[in-house]
Amino acid sequence: MTSPETRLFIGGRFVEPTGPRHPVFDPSRRTLVAEVARASDSDVEAALDAAARAVPLLRSSTFPARGALVRALADAVRAAREPLAQLLTAEQGKPLAEARAEIQYGLGYFDYYAELAQHVTGEVLPSPSPTDRLLVVPEPIGVCVAITPWNFPFAMLARKIAPALVAGNPVILKPAEATPLTALAFAALAAEVGLPDGALSVLTGDRDDAARIGRRRLADGRGRKLSFTGSTAVGKALYAACADTVKRVSLELGGNAAFLVFADADLDAAVDGVVQAKFRNAGQACVAANRILVDRRVRGAFVERLVARVEAMRVGDGRDADTTLGPLIDARARAKVVRHRDDALARGAKAVVSGGPVGDDGSFYAPTVLEGVPFDALLHAEETFGPLAAVSSFEREDEAVAHANDTPFGLAGYVYSRDIGRANRVADALEVGMVAVNAGLLSSALAPFGGVKESGLGKEGGRAGLDAYLVHKYLRFGGL
Ligand code: SIN
Repeated sequence: MTSPETRLFIGGRFVEPTGPRHPVFDPSRRTLVAEVARASDSDVEAALDAAARAVPLLRSSTFPARGALVRALADAVRAAREPLAQLLTAEQGKPLAEARAEIQYGLGYFDYYAELAQHVTGEVLPSPSPTDRLLVVPEPIGVCVAITPWNFPFAMLARKIAPALVAGNPVILKPAEATPLTALAFAALAAEVGLPDGALSVLTGDRDDAARIGRRRLADGRGRKLSFTGSTAVGKALYAACADTVKRVSLELGGNAAFLVFADADLDAAVDGVVQAKFRNAGQACVAANRILVDRRVRGAFVERLVARVEAMRVGDGRDADTTLGPLIDARARAKVVRHRDDALARGAKAVVSGGPVGDDGSFYAPTVLEGVPFDALLHAEETFGPLAAVSSFEREDEAVAHANDTPFGLAGYVYSRDIGRANRVADALEVGMVAVNAGLLSSALAPFGGVKESGLGKEGGRAGLDAYLVHKYLRFGGL
């Protein structure tokens, strides 16, 4: 791996930071990967100035022209996908195969929005009078502030930046403190393809800087939209910070997905599904199956098959070919999984695969399977974000649905049943933004990703993901 880019990217070029840097550690080896710039207040100001200067230029270009730019970005990422995947694994820890899959997933957003740019239309409304014409014209919003999480460092920037640029908005991106390198490598590709100056800036910083950078960018009236993916607590604070300047917001926040397996389900398919929905990225996904609810009549058979799959998993460095489960992002993340496991055990759950921390320090955690997890366990109230499969059982469909909905979160849900009537009924009844029926993976660039309740506002991906970056301006011409 060549040395990663560590400078700030402002106004189309990399600039040396004036202040201190912050370390980025490899979660597998716990070695220093790089020391990355910490944006100062004047860097934030410079990024806002550059973005504001880019507004008229982007606004006066056409959708197809911006689509061509996004296509060029896709081509550049495609050409660099292997080094990008390696970098992603080095800073985030996920197995290389998953990092490659993430680059592919993120590329889907660039490809999709580059194509959609060729098909954006407005509307001509039925006129109330022969002398009037009523039009709806899609326009960019203005400067967008994007804040991305550490669990999918490339895919999450892709699903914000691609539609924002196609819509004609400059973006100031703040990647997560733990995983800024993939975003900076992406910025280097953007510089190579000749993105207009100011169309993209990348400001990095540590946890304290994030709050300061966020406050400053959000207080400035030139920023017209915030798109944030991350925890519900931080999302609520950012939402409040946007009120003063009445910014548009897209918030993709925490989840607490229920994974429902009915007695009529294809159990092998359900186990395949839960392995994907629970253990992808070592369980560090907002859509991860947090509560696995299985009809009591098939619980034994389901758990037996799940145990066989989990026992075959290999925990290790994401660069090792036989690793199927990488480390968690840090020791704090691991401590939370341990807390959830211990709480469930104390309340009477049984460990059918013990798993647990690997090594005294670091963040490796061998997967755990618990059964008989009571509904009052901590992990039914909070997102675990780790490789802990918690199986509870239910007797009746209405009980399963009521429990699935008994949470302030509403991002995703999963239903396994071969009864099409039941699958449809339960999918309708789940209070979530996305439901997978007999499938363990929801993510697709073509589909609107997003939650309800305290899981967020708005959608990313698909057509709705472009609308989120557009103003639909109404024009009325009279006296014609
Ligand atoms: C997330 O964890 O928020 C993203 C997961 C995905 O896009 O599949």
